[in-house]
Amino acid sequence: MLTRRAILPDVEQIHKLIAVYSPDGTLLPRTLAELSENVRDFVVVEDGDEIIACGALHFYGRHLTEIRSIAVCPTHKGKGAGRVLIEALLEEAELHKIKCVCLFTRIPDFFAKFGFDYASREVLPDKIYKDCLKCPRLHACDEVAMYRGSLPKVTPVKLEDIHVPITALRA
Ligand SMILES: CC(C)(COP(=O)(O)OP(=O)(O)OC[C@H]1O[C@@H](n2cnc3c(N)ncnc32)[C@H](O)[C@@H]1OP(=O)(O)O)[C@@H](O)C(=O)NCCC(=O)NCCS
Repeated sequence: MLTRRAILPDVEQIHKLIAVYSPDGTLLPRTLAELSENVRDFVVVEDGDEIIACGALHFYGRHLTEIRSIAVCPTHKGKGAGRVLIEALLEEAELHKIKCVCLFTRIPDFFAKFGFDYASREVLPDKIYKDCLKCPRLHACDEVAMYRGSLPKVTPVKLEDIHVPITALRA
């Protein structure tokens, strides 16, 4: 298994991997256009010629980056691809001297293995303003926020004060 930064020709395989896990809401769906635009965020794991896993690191700034779009091909699960992928993304975050890595997940036990701890999503306003406000589950989120490093020193967002007209946001 080899990890490397993704390049544009990988986009179709990344798209297929993410599509496996988006119908049930495990991952946010990504279009080919979005993936092409953000392909430099991605790391892939190869087994021979095949891409068997992908994941991305989205930069908000030196204070915060987010691990997202983590997907291991179902036939390759349980063989260490997830581990090498997360380790490669954390190395990338270290290279960029990022102070805090965050993520939102339904499988906290997996990420706890890499030193992630629970956080309240209210202390991650970058994520809230980027994604959560557009999400129909804003006030019924079933994911937990996790972080590794030093949490940004910010005034927490008061989610209960946010009343967003979801239909307007979808337009
Ligand atoms: C979660 C996922 C990335 C794990 O990848 P994987 O290649 O199967 O994981 P690995 O084989 O590298 O396992 C590494 C360790 O994590 C553990 N692990 C794997 N899946 C786990 C899970 N769902 N929950 C808790 N621990 C898990 C393994 O037991 C192993 O532990 P060990 O090192 O103590 O033996 C993969 O199952 C996946 O793509 N799931 C669907 C998409 C998804 O949920 N993405 C994350 C969204 S936030």
